Amino acid sequence: MAELGVLPVGDVLVSEEKITAVGPKLEVPVDIEVIEAQGRVLLPGFVDCHTHACWAGDRLNEWEQKLRGVPYAEILKSGGGLLSTVRAVREATKKQLAAHLKTRLDAMLRSGSTTVEIKSGYGLESEAELKMLRAIVRAGHEWPGTIVPTALLGHAFEGVLDEYARMVVKEMLPAVSKEFPDITVDAFCEDGAWSLEACVRLFEKAQKHHPIRVHADQFTSLGMVPEAIRLHARSIDHLEASTKADLLLLAQSRTCGVILPCTGFHTDGRYARAGFLVDAGGAVALATNCNPGTSPTHSMPLAIALAVRFCGLSPAEAIVAATVNAAAVLGLTDRGTIEAGQRADLLLLGHKDERQLAYELGGNPVDLVIAGGNVVR
Ligand code: NIG
Repeated sequence: MAELGVLPVGDVLVSEEKITAVGPKLEVPVDIEVIEAQGRVLLPGFVDCHTHACWAGDRLNEWEQKLRGVPYAEILKSGGGLLSTVRAVREATKKQLAAHLKTRLDAMLRSGSTTVEIKSGYGLESEAELKMLRAIVRAGHEWPGTIVPTALLGHAFEGVLDEYARMVVKEMLPAVSKEFPDITVDAFCEDGAWSLEACVRLFEKAQKHHPIRVHADQFTSLGMVPEAIRLHARSIDHLEASTKADLLLLAQSRTCGVILPCTGFHTDGRYARAGFLVDAGGAVALATNCNPGTSPTHSMPLAIALAVRFCGLSPAEAIVAATVNAAAVLGLTDRGTIEAGQRADLLLLGHKDERQLAYELGGNPVDLVIAGGNVVR
């Protein structure tokens, strides 16, 4: 992850949606549009591989409670937090959800995200979860980048967890599988959300037809890491509260760790030990976790800047985590690198040294965005 393979001077030839050649001095065909980088850094488009960007309403009152010291879990237990977003999402139409999402996607594109994963999980009823997934797909049709929907079927629950989880396995999972046969299934393993047992029951069923991912060890380490590895999860996301032993297990597995440092920055100052994971031989991806409760940001450059400051990644490792590794988490091998044959998702930064991306805080370093071979910003 520490090797970027920087080409100090180079040309990148694009035809239709793909990169066709990369090299130091390519012969430029006639009648081709030429963009002069003038010494600026060209990067693969960012892949934001973990977001909850489809929501309605806001959580500003709750945020003020949090600023006064009320913990996330307490707000959730009293029916607020994530559950207040559930109420707003149920009230919104598919069209309204898609419109809110489109505004956020445009902001993401301006900051260089050309591929974005978006989870459902604020519906909690089969029809409302399907409405979210349809809104996510619809917003993707009107956006020049790539959207990857994920069915977050185990995000929270209503009533008794055991009965609710049984309903999800019996009713919601088959309904989602029927309409979205290739979709990844996700759950949130946490005190006050889904227990280890409920997650394992869902994943053992889902895994037969779907890739799986899991939110684990955000606040509490419940033993999900070894179970997710056993179940061949594509990724384990969060990891702020993971034990060293679990991080070592993860490092030796084929499952990728996904870190979400904007969450610690907004919520409680706790971060995943990604440097430890990488040094132990593990693979790490990085994402914004864009959501109204724990990470109200769309900015991959901010996630990179925080990963370097708080999670122990070098600038090169953070760039790899935000591009090629994040693409792998989504099962995409056609992006995240600048090579012939790859999809032409490219960013021209304002900077002449890629480390500046991690060094600078709070601005937008992206001068130009190319998605699928088209200049889109
Ligand atoms: O990843 N942890 C669960 N889900 C989100 C929070 C969602 C919300 O609070 O609305 C997260 O932090």
